[in-house]
Amino acid sequence: MLPYHNIMSDPAKPPRILFVCLGNICRSPAAEGVVQRMAEGRALELDSAGTGNWHVGEPPYGHMQRAAKQRGYDLSSLRARQVKVQDFKDFDLILAMDEKNLADLRALDPGTGAALRLFMEYAPQTGVTAVPDPYYTRDFDGALDLIEAAARGLLTSL
Ligand code: 4NP
Repeated sequence: MLPYHNIMSDPAKPPRILFVCLGNICRSPAAEGVVQRMAEGRALELDSAGTGNWHVGEPPYGHMQRAAKQRGYDLSSLRARQVKVQDFKDFDLILAMDEKNLADLRALDPGTGAALRLFMEYAPQTGVTAVPDPYYTRDFDGALDLIEAAARGLLTSL
């Protein structure tokens, strides 16, 4: 894993990190909310977005909001948006929830800005490379377990 100063464009500025999944209503808003809360007091600029546009403007999926709330993460103020080319300039690090998200990001990437990675690279002890999509698996707690593990690894790396 590259240390923070090898990824971020300017180590003196707060890291700008974008979490990306497909719909931006389950995994990536959960990742944003978990990292935001675990990072309390640290200067980070966080956002999340989806590669798809079906849910633009919507709050996170109700099942994910409730599962997150049980662990103390309030996702209710978040709203879905789609990834845009400007994001590659506006963020230092873009973290994909699965390999398809990463491939879609690479296809959009103008190649001049953000580092692109899989979020689960920050939790190698889990043995997985992706957060399975709970919109389909219905395993919201399993997704949150993985997201919390990667969030801890990410915050340790910064
Ligand atoms: P997410 O889950 O990528 O974790 O937000 C999904 C939510 C909705 C859809 C796909 C994935 N959808 O196709 O509507």
